[in-house]
Amino acid sequence: MTTATSRSDKPKLPPSSKVPPSIIAIQAILDQFGTLEQFERKYGEIFYSPKSTLFPLPPYVIFSNPQAIEQVFTADPDFFEVGQQSTAPVRVLLGDNSLVLLNGKEHRRQRKLLMPPFHGERMKSYGQTMVDVTQEVISQWQVGQTISIRDYTQQISLEIILRTIFGINKGQRYDRLKGILVDYLETFNSPLTSFFLFFPWLQKDLGALTPWSKFLQQKRQIREILQWECERRRNNPEAMGEDILSLLLEARDEDGKPMSDVEIEDELMTMLFAGHETTASSLAWSFYWLHRLPKIKQKFQEELDSLASNTELTDIAKLPYLSAIVSETLRLNPVIVFVGRQLKKPMELMGYQFQSGTSIFPSIYLTHQRPDIYPEPKKFKPERFIEKQFSPYEYLPFGGGHRRCLGYAFALYEMKLVLATIMSQVKLELLDNRPLKSTRRGFTFSPDGGVRMKIRG
Ligand code: HEM
Repeated sequence: MTTATSRSDKPKLPPSSKVPPSIIAIQAILDQFGTLEQFERKYGEIFYSPKSTLFPLPPYVIFSNPQAIEQVFTADPDFFEVGQQSTAPVRVLLGDNSLVLLNGKEHRRQRKLLMPPFHGERMKSYGQTMVDVTQEVISQWQVGQTISIRDYTQQISLEIILRTIFGINKGQRYDRLKGILVDYLETFNSPLTSFFLFFPWLQKDLGALTPWSKFLQQKRQIREILQWECERRRNNPEAMGEDILSLLLEARDEDGKPMSDVEIEDELMTMLFAGHETTASSLAWSFYWLHRLPKIKQKFQEELDSLASNTELTDIAKLPYLSAIVSETLRLNPVIVFVGRQLKKPMELMGYQFQSGTSIFPSIYLTHQRPDIYPEPKKFKPERFIEKQFSPYEYLPFGGGHRRCLGYAFALYEMKLVLATIMSQVKLELLDNRPLKSTRRGFTFSPDGGVRMKIRG
């Protein structure tokens, strides 16, 4: 009798695999996309995993159903919170005040303070810097040189962030900060060095040469430079510029309170982290597809050739075919594969009941691969974005709802201006002219091998 009652009281959950969650986690680390596709083939548009015992993973549900995604994106933000365990490495890397770690009122306050530079006229004013940085980088290319395009899109996106967000430009301090940041960001991309970020018991200062001590030292140096920069601007109002750091120093919340230096530093690191790998990998994919599919490149070249020499940057960003190429790149090769939320209260989705503590993962990748929304989903077809408009629950490269990517307009603007600048000035040949896989780089995914190309002229 008791058994029957407790059985009927059990929440109804979606199908799940009999393979232990820890084994699935390892399989997903090794082959994220293959694992997702395998589960989707087996269980359909929603599947569940109970709590893992080996990894610090709560129970989670993955789905690609647009109605369910709409329900999550439009739900009261109070349904969700940031998972403490799964975000521990982010905390170590970016600091406790990072936007990605904040909940509720604090998250709303900080987003409101950070939002203005990323929209409207202010954001557009960064266009010239985006073009200048791209031109500086490509001016070093030699005809006949073989490059991995991702190395250069990474260099471009890092420099753009340092100039527009940190407001630091050329000179000794700039070179020093850039050098330390490159090393610091690499920590997460190497499986060996990133290991200690996930296991707090490895976080011990055991002398100057150990990875954790080196990491702490880099973190201290970055903080010192940023702190110095904040103080310099406060003491010299003429040093304030159009960059995002200056705007954050001047920002006030509803109670007239400024952001603290530590808050500003954590947010600068967050924007750097969230904004530069993502944009660099997405751009590398665009270069790959343009050169893999000559007809698409030809059509894009014709669009670029039709531009007058004095076309405004904001008009370049509105070009329909360029916009479609960028949208299709982010659909087919999303560099972030899930949107992540953790339930603070129970929630019902697609007729299933989920307890608080469950991680909710709308899958960007699987949604973008649905043949009912995107016929021939494995093909790169920019035209689909010209023929049809997709809803924010069918097309979600930047997530959605109250945590939608803060820098999405910035990223789209940057991708379009970098593509237009390079494609109108340099001829490139694709050396990796074969199907390319998406491989893991820390939290994000990137084209395998970085897309090797040759400079043709
Ligand atoms: C192609 C480039 C980019 C892609 C694909 C991308 C994608 C994403 C995604 C999927 C999220 C999670 C959204 C959610 O949970 O609903 C996110 C969050 C975020 N992104 Fe981006 N992003 C890109 C570029 C940028 C840039 C350039 C910046 C800033 C300079 C940026 C700043 C952020 C921040 C601060 C968040 C956290 C928002 C919050 O938690 O409230 N991103 N991004």
